[in-house]
Amino acid sequence: MPNTNHKLMENIVFTNNVATELQDATNSTAREDIFVLTDCNTLKYCMPVIGELAFKETNVITIPANETSKNLESVSKVWLTLSQRLVRRNSLLINLGGGMICDLGGFAASCFKRGMRYINVPTTLLAQVDASVGGKTGINFNGLKNEIGVFSQAEAIIMDTVFFSTLDKRQILSGYGEMFKHALLAGCSDLKSLMEINPLHAENEFFRKPIKRSLEIKQSIVSKDPFEKGERKSLNFGHTAGHAIESFRIHENKDLYHGEAVAHGIIIELYLSIMKLNFDSQLCEEIKTYLRSIFNIDFNGINAESLYNLMLHDKKNTDDEVNFTLLSRVGEYKTDCYCSKKEIIDAIEHAK
Ligand code: GLY
Repeated sequence: MPNTNHKLMENIVFTNNVATELQDATNSTAREDIFVLTDCNTLKYCMPVIGELAFKETNVITIPANETSKNLESVSKVWLTLSQRLVRRNSLLINLGGGMICDLGGFAASCFKRGMRYINVPTTLLAQVDASVGGKTGINFNGLKNEIGVFSQAEAIIMDTVFFSTLDKRQILSGYGEMFKHALLAGCSDLKSLMEINPLHAENEFFRKPIKRSLEIKQSIVSKDPFEKGERKSLNFGHTAGHAIESFRIHENKDLYHGEAVAHGIIIELYLSIMKLNFDSQLCEEIKTYLRSIFNIDFNGINAESLYNLMLHDKKNTDDEVNFTLLSRVGEYKTDCYCSKKEIIDAIEHAK
């Protein structure tokens, strides 16, 4: 397992010609030993971009799109295809898709014959700045997100913003939510640069530099704590409240993208940061105003008590207190901050 920043960043390739880059990366592998995992959308929109004729049609494995397919049944489909084709240990799986495909494909590859090689080709902004890097792989199980999984690094991660042309604006914003979190963890100059971007109007190409910077921030944290024993928990900022909002909206049958939920979570957790770590309240208001101008921040119908209960049932909590990563200032964070029910409910009410 690589554990230095240098090594981790080395695996990431930024390109504006993903087809050529992928050909180079797979040159030493026989074509019949290369498999491509897609979902229905990436099969249609992204496969032609990577040069589908270069890969054997019969070696393309397609699973249904979206989070509900991130399950054992889909992994089983991948394993069955690999097994029936007498895949050798040197065979390679290319995960062509968003976070679901990168997480699931990485997990399937890591367990198959005790580990086959895999390359991530993340096709969404969210997957480029988060899921495809850092070695977390897994699937949902028993109604719980990422319940089963392993840490395992991709052999390479190939990034090209060309794929963003088929994303809608909300999918772009979803990635931007994670980039915003990274900037808050990194410092004021990163936050300022990111707040100067209007992600709703930026061209795809424009994202290249901010994506690189966002990944540097993530990788500098991951390299110090690849297995999330301590510092890597900082990447959960905005997520304890964010996941609860995501679950709340799922129960209501309302769709909310992950990064949109994180943006809501960031606002709540900034209020907790004011209470627990004296985060600057004026800055919190400025950030809230900015996020409201970019995202459709909507706490309508959100019941604070229900949200608290959803957070409590998340991992790593005591009987009635919930564990958060909070900020003392932009660029300074503290993991394992326990907050009471009253503090959490107050923060939700302030965020509304
Ligand atoms: N997505 C958070 C992490 O990679 O740790």
